[in-house]
Amino acid sequence: MNVIHVSAECYPIAKVGGLGDVVGSLPKYQSEAGVGAKVIMPFYDNKFSAAHSFKSIYESELVLGEEIYPYKFLKLKEEVLDIDVLFVDIPKLLFKNFVYSDDDTARFTAFQIAVMDWLLTLKEKPSIIHCHDHHTGLIPFMAQECFKYESLNQIPVILTIHNAQYQGWFSHDKVYYLPAFDISNNGLLDWDGVINPLAAGIKCAWRVTTVSPSYMEELQQAANGLESLLSHENKKCVGILNGIDTEVWNPETDEFIEKNYSAKNIQTGKTANKKWLCKQFGFSASKPLFAFIGRLVYEKGADLLPTVLEEILLKKECNILILGSGNSEVENALENLKKKYKGVYNVFIGYDEKLSHLIYAGADFLLMPSRVEPCGLNQLYSLRYGTIPLVRSIGGLKDTVIDIEDGGFGFSHAEASEIDISKTINRAVQFYKEERTFKKTRKYIMSIDHSWNVSAKQYIDLYNSLKSG
Ligand code: ADP
Ligand code: GLC
Repeated sequence: MNVIHVSAECYPIAKVGGLGDVVGSLPKYQSEAGVGAKVIMPFYDNKFSAAHSFKSIYESELVLGEEIYPYKFLKLKEEVLDIDVLFVDIPKLLFKNFVYSDDDTARFTAFQIAVMDWLLTLKEKPSIIHCHDHHTGLIPFMAQECFKYESLNQIPVILTIHNAQYQGWFSHDKVYYLPAFDISNNGLLDWDGVINPLAAGIKCAWRVTTVSPSYMEELQQAANGLESLLSHENKKCVGILNGIDTEVWNPETDEFIEKNYSAKNIQTGKTANKKWLCKQFGFSASKPLFAFIGRLVYEKGADLLPTVLEEILLKKECNILILGSGNSEVENALENLKKKYKGVYNVFIGYDEKLSHLIYAGADFLLMPSRVEPCGLNQLYSLRYGTIPLVRSIGGLKDTVIDIEDGGFGFSHAEASEIDISKTINRAVQFYKEERTFKKTRKYIMSIDHSWNVSAKQYIDLYNSLKSG
């Protein structure tokens, strides 16, 4: 069996968030489990491509509306990755430095057409096409409607929804972007009067997955307008929890952190990493260190942080460190707290992969007050690094973090509200004082296995069920 993953992101080539991590790791575990797995993604003019050489393996032209775009399929000249990746380079629709931009409709529709055109040329077709999020949501439609006479509709297509907040909407005026199809089937593209690639993907994919079981349940109640569609398609929907790449995220070998450690020498390891962070950000290492890493957006509950943090910081019982970027109002509010709470609070606005590893390693607690969290990888990385997560009980957070009071190992709260978040932080501050239990808990969480081993198998079972059915 061989599967191709089609995605806008793939770590370490291009990563905006967890989608990149998942597509950069799941194929590796699938290959180890005996399934040939390849990733197809756009070629971005970014740091990664500047540092590597590529060779062309296929060249052609695609039609997008009235325009013709030459494109190439590229491969890395040297095998620097442990997954097999093909890059679609469409020079006239430059995928510049940024992964997402204002002209995503043209860029990603062209990308998807190139993928379909290339599939036509293959003698041996993939056994499964696995699409990720709305940027690839038109592929199930194209396979079924635009390329059915070429038999691409015979290949099972799976759509994984990593985040249903973004759906890729565009107006029906641009329907001519798509390769020809029977226009009476236009309704398959439509949701609420516009073309909705995520909805089209849900309608046409053979199976739809979400990145945690709870998120699937939640989406069938509220999915930014798609809830009735997902309930209607319930039979082909399933939630499969994400795993993590335990080679990239391994405190024993992580090259980004100050001192490597395992559960056996967790005390010395975490202390050394915490000391480094505290020195860097001007904190005293004797207080518990809480951190937040992520996109500073409403979904992540980031707008609630400034008020909560002020209340917590007044007491000066803990240190708080934020790493993230996003909404400029939130960024400014978080920056503004810096002067007032120097010595107990700091923020780094921006994206920094190395610093994120150092924080997972050196912090005592990780904050995730998300309003929406399809899976969440931060809490899984924090468990692996012995950092206790404080989460809102939603989506994948609900499926992976059990509260200490319920016999678990983390802290969870019901609402994404300032009161709930600050109560939970206060509980954790008290917990930190119970030294023996605190240390026992952080040692325990390092042993929880969230590697892809379990979930990669669930995907393979799903692929097999389609192959034989
Ligand atoms: P999402 O994909 O919704 O942003 P996830 O929890 O699935 O959330 O994944 C977020 C990923 O992005 C994690 O690998 C996290 O460490 C990383 N990340 C988020 N913000 C930053 C940042 N500012 N700097 C470095 N890494 C970040
Ligand atoms: C999305 C979700 C996040 C999930 C990630 C990987 O970005 O917001 O919760 O972990 O995809 O599936």
